Amino acid sequence: MWGCGALCGARAPAQLQRCLLPASRRHRQPAAASFSASAEPSRVRALVYGNHGDPAKVVELKNLELAAMGGSDVHVKMLAAPINPSDINMIQGNYGYLPPLPAVGGNEGVGQVVAVGSHVTRVKPGDWVIPTNVGLGTWRTEAVFSEEALLGVPKDIPLLSAATLCVNPCTAYRMLMDFEQLRPGDSVIQNASNSGVGQAVIQIAAALGLRTINVVRDRPDIQKLIDRLKNLGADHVVTEEELRKHELKNLFKNMPQPRLALNCVGGKSSTELLRRLAPGGTMVTYGGMAKQPVVASVSLLIFKNLKIRGFWMSKWKEDHSPDQFKELILTLCHLIRRGQLTAPACSEVPLQDYQRALEASMQPFVSSKQILTMC
Ligand SMILES: NC(=O)c1ccc[n+]([C@@H]2O[C@H](COP(=O)([O-])OP(=O)(O)OC[C@H]3O[C@@H](n4cnc5c(N)ncnc54)[C@H](OP(=O)(O)O)[C@@H]3O)[C@@H](O)[C@H]2O)c1
Repeated sequence: MWGCGALCGARAPAQLQRCLLPASRRHRQPAAASFSASAEPSRVRALVYGNHGDPAKVVELKNLELAAMGGSDVHVKMLAAPINPSDINMIQGNYGYLPPLPAVGGNEGVGQVVAVGSHVTRVKPGDWVIPTNVGLGTWRTEAVFSEEALLGVPKDIPLLSAATLCVNPCTAYRMLMDFEQLRPGDSVIQNASNSGVGQAVIQIAAALGLRTINVVRDRPDIQKLIDRLKNLGADHVVTEEELRKHELKNLFKNMPQPRLALNCVGGKSSTELLRRLAPGGTMVTYGGMAKQPVVASVSLLIFKNLKIRGFWMSKWKEDHSPDQFKELILTLCHLIRRGQLTAPACSEVPLQDYQRALEASMQPFVSSKQILTMC
């Protein structure tokens, strides 16, 4: 079946291969008696890659056939799905989890349930659902996924918030909660602060009463970006160059030195974050946008006893129960409803214009998340 949660990795490779055969080369699946889906095969459009490489070259828009449903399956019409750096890395073959090929791209998004199998208990037709794990393959118009690959989300939050909920805001929240015991008034420093994660960090930190020092790369329209991040709740926004200057020390006359630094970049930028940490503080690396290693000064490690840690949301999910993940999602939905957490700045792009969206997602200084819309 083409839709299979298929590419969510839970099924056997042979079946995956069958899933990716063009509709013309496959027989129609018999309809299972136990579900309420239409037995008519429907045309599914999906962004598929058969080899790892440059996304502009290896990703293709293909027509697939919708799978037959089993009793534990859910037929989902996808509504919107972002293009995140991890999706790009996965297509390039540089990610911690690589689904078997060929695969449908996309790890995040929101869909609406069309029909459910007879054993499905947690979602019903009309509900919105998001992936519970990486590798689902969300860049497609519809699919049949297994119930366990999905989590229902409330429909009273904006669609774009739901489409971008399960990766970046979750990562931001966990990093703020799990590494240092921060109290209202404490401060956090981060780089790539205009990233999806960075915007979530600013907003969640503000909701928790934490102050943020936000580092971004300089650009011609920097004031526009500073204003935008301050509108989200950023206390300070500084450029990478300003971060290196001695005068930045003045900032800490009015606020405590940060005990937590969130590193999305690596290289020199991470070395500077470490320099600004309070003694005993922690730097958590969750991204490597500069593609350079973290370099830590020996004296800072010895005399300030800094801690250097890493975080991967997928590992957190592996180590926690589905109920704990659900609780995290509901906490974030609560912040969204209260207006304390909005979707990142984004550009909506119809699925058929995916090449434009892929290209934009790999350009520097865009400051806008590309969201594929499926209608
Ligand atoms: N570990 C985890 O569990 C986890 C979870 C979510 C995300 N992530 C990772 O976090 C990172 C950000 O993801 P996202 O979805 O938030 O990204 P995003 O919204 O696409 O933003 C990308 C960010 O990276 C910056 N950037 C790009 N190239 C850079 C470079 N060479 N040097 C410095 N900054 C650079 C961009 O800044 P400009 O505007 O200056 O270009 C922008 O701030 C990715 O590496 C992603 O894989 C990890």
